[in-house]
Amino acid sequence: MSQFAIASDSIDPSSVPQRKLYTGACIPAVGLGTFGSDRVSWEEVAEAVMGAACVGYRHFDCASVYGNEHLIGHSLRSMMQGGIRREDLWITSKLWNDKHAEEDVIPSCEKTLRDLRLDCLDLYLIHWPFPNTHDPGCDVSSRSPTARPYIHENYMKTWRQMEKLVEMGLARHIGTSNMTVPKLKILLRDAAIRPAANEMELHPHFQQPEFFRFVRENGMVAIGYSPIGSPARPERDRTPEDTFPIEDPAILTIADRLGVHPAAVCIKWAVQRGQVTIPFSTKRAHYLSNLQAAVTAPLADEDMEAIARADRNCRLIKGQVFLWKENQNWEDLWDVNGEITPA
Ligand SMILES: NC(=O)c1ccc[n+]([C@@H]2O[C@H](COP(=O)([O-])OP(=O)(O)OC[C@H]3O[C@@H](n4cnc5c(N)ncnc54)[C@H](OP(=O)(O)O)[C@@H]3O)[C@@H](O)[C@H]2O)c1
Repeated sequence: MSQFAIASDSIDPSSVPQRKLYTGACIPAVGLGTFGSDRVSWEEVAEAVMGAACVGYRHFDCASVYGNEHLIGHSLRSMMQGGIRREDLWITSKLWNDKHAEEDVIPSCEKTLRDLRLDCLDLYLIHWPFPNTHDPGCDVSSRSPTARPYIHENYMKTWRQMEKLVEMGLARHIGTSNMTVPKLKILLRDAAIRPAANEMELHPHFQQPEFFRFVRENGMVAIGYSPIGSPARPERDRTPEDTFPIEDPAILTIADRLGVHPAAVCIKWAVQRGQVTIPFSTKRAHYLSNLQAAVTAPLADEDMEAIARADRNCRLIKGQVFLWKENQNWEDLWDVNGEITPA
């Protein structure tokens, strides 16, 4: 593992845009994703976390299911020994689907904290609203024999434990991920501590304008995952209909004119739209240029409009492996009719 040292070409972290949460805390608008998509080794991801800190990243999007938090913990420890203050870092982690039971939530967060070598997370999310799991590397047809639908009463039991984490000082904020408007509406109705952020798929080919607006109008920060269109995502998350935002003609035209990679256009669009964005990369040139995209000249209004028109409503991370009964379609996970899909 390399040591933390500010790189000569690093970006000043204070120049990176921030979003304010309802507590007044600020989250950097660009963070490094840490899911290796079952392809990149845990060690490489932990090394990228360190390298990203050296070039100016202060926000890292982690999860216990990514399997690498114990190694990322070494990177975080080294960067703090190298002079980065804890309060200048933003660390998110997520409760995995097999830990929704009331007695599992707090120990699971404590395990993440031990692995990451932290006393407190800045944000802890419920990773999926379903308690359904899958094996790493499984294919799209894989289903857990114990899979269940969304049951609000059960989700609220999990949420109450998440609230306890805030009361215990183990998480500064709690939030949701892979939710829908109808599920969030009843969570907002019943929560004692409201979700501060919702993590959701967001890129130029899946802009989710109504849901994005709902999240923000209800006082949550929208954290967009797979901002580049997740070109290396696992096989289980691929279908023949999928499209590629970094091959979109509108994105390519803008990238050509600006002399940047299409990924940089996706990042600029995300930041300008008001999202937090968490691109993944283990390549220094890539994660550096992704952060640079957020601090260099913004896109013109016409470019933002051209990208708005490029939306294909193409969800890439469909979540088929979380379906709970035979003969279902992945759309059943996403309440596309505006109501929670019946059990
Ligand atoms: N909450 C959830 O359920 C959820 C779901 C999915 C993802 N996430 C989070 O979101 C993060 C990002 O999503 P993602 O990994 O699916 O997709 P992504 O960030 O859209 O795409 C990552 C891929 O893009 C490539 N890339 C990145 N920057 C590039 C650049 N400047 N030029 C060319 N290629 C570039 C990377 O390859 P190289 O390594 O070769 O650069 C990598 O293969 C994850 O790591 C994870 O933290 C959360």
